Amino acid sequence: MAFSKITQVAAYAPEQIISNDDLSQIMDTSDEWISSRTGIRERHITREETTSDLGTQVAQQLLKQSGLSAQAIDFIIVATITPDSLMPSTAARIQANIGASNAFGMDMTAACSGFVFALATADKFIQSGLYQRGLVIGAETLSKTLDWSDRSSSVLFGDGAGGVLLEASDTKHFLAESLHTDGSRGGSLTSGLVGLSSPFSDTTSDEKYLQMDGRAIFDFAIRDVPKSIKQLVADAGLSIEDLDYLFLHQANIRILNKMAKKLGVSMEKLPANMMAYGNTSAASIPILLSESVDKGIIALDGSQTVLFSAFGGGLTWGNLIVKI
Ligand code: ACO
Repeated sequence: MAFSKITQVAAYAPEQIISNDDLSQIMDTSDEWISSRTGIRERHITREETTSDLGTQVAQQLLKQSGLSAQAIDFIIVATITPDSLMPSTAARIQANIGASNAFGMDMTAACSGFVFALATADKFIQSGLYQRGLVIGAETLSKTLDWSDRSSSVLFGDGAGGVLLEASDTKHFLAESLHTDGSRGGSLTSGLVGLSSPFSDTTSDEKYLQMDGRAIFDFAIRDVPKSIKQLVADAGLSIEDLDYLFLHQANIRILNKMAKKLGVSMEKLPANMMAYGNTSAASIPILLSESVDKGIIALDGSQTVLFSAFGGGLTWGNLIVKI
């Protein structure tokens, strides 16, 4: 039986940084309101780079770090809710940009849980024994989906990309997973609604922009997610103390504080960087992981046990416990 292992991590964000004060120039908001409720102080917003451009930077960095040629890559999975186009996929664009001619590529849509769902999927491809290595990338340009006249949602998000190289390994690194969807609550966070349009159908309305019931999402995050984490840790025969770090989706510092309390772990175990990026949806966990590797918190030598936990639109939520 084949196993998979994360062997490289990389991230990239567009150069332009927009602070809370910058936002207060274009809407009725303030640094005090945003940072006290969310922890967010600034975010990267793209000027011209697209989602596939951001993902390409990550893919190139992963190849450079590994010393592998692009031809050695068997697959590329991109988690995104902000693709350049539905067709070709973001993964196909990245495959062309890096010249990974032997790789198949596809996008996955599970909103902020996208990276965790994609990583769980990639692990199965490698477990099948059919593929040796793949790139799993979360890449987003959420700025293009925001209604910038809606101060309650537009201040929360940012653009960026992060990803990992996943390779076959003789030893088990992916210890446990749980993935969840509750479509019945999907209406509390929506984006990119495309209405019907043809000479043979009734036209229905479009709603391009992200819309969110902030309170409902907050409650979902602090109720359902810690419960699922506790369940998974128990099912894996572990205790929460066995986790060296918990990499949680970077939506909001208040959500992280509440989760830490519910899980009985100190905030020291929950790296956070939404202060500098905002919520980058599927990119948030790999960007955080990459920063943690850069800071030396994560050694990537198989000696640490971490949890990846993401939650978002769908509603979706998912957890992976990984030896990293
Ligand atoms: N600046 C100033 N005032 C604002 C802003 C803003 N940017 N946005 C809203 N307000 C106002 C509201 O209009 C309201 O005013 P009113 O009382 O006069 O009507 C007031 O602030 C309070 O609004 P609330 O919605 O009650 O504020 P709350 O304390 O609930 O915080 C927030 C809102 C931050 C969105 C919170 O609900 C939250 O964190 N929700 C989670 C949402 C989230 O993280 N979503 C990310 C996407 S999903 C995901 O990644 C999981």
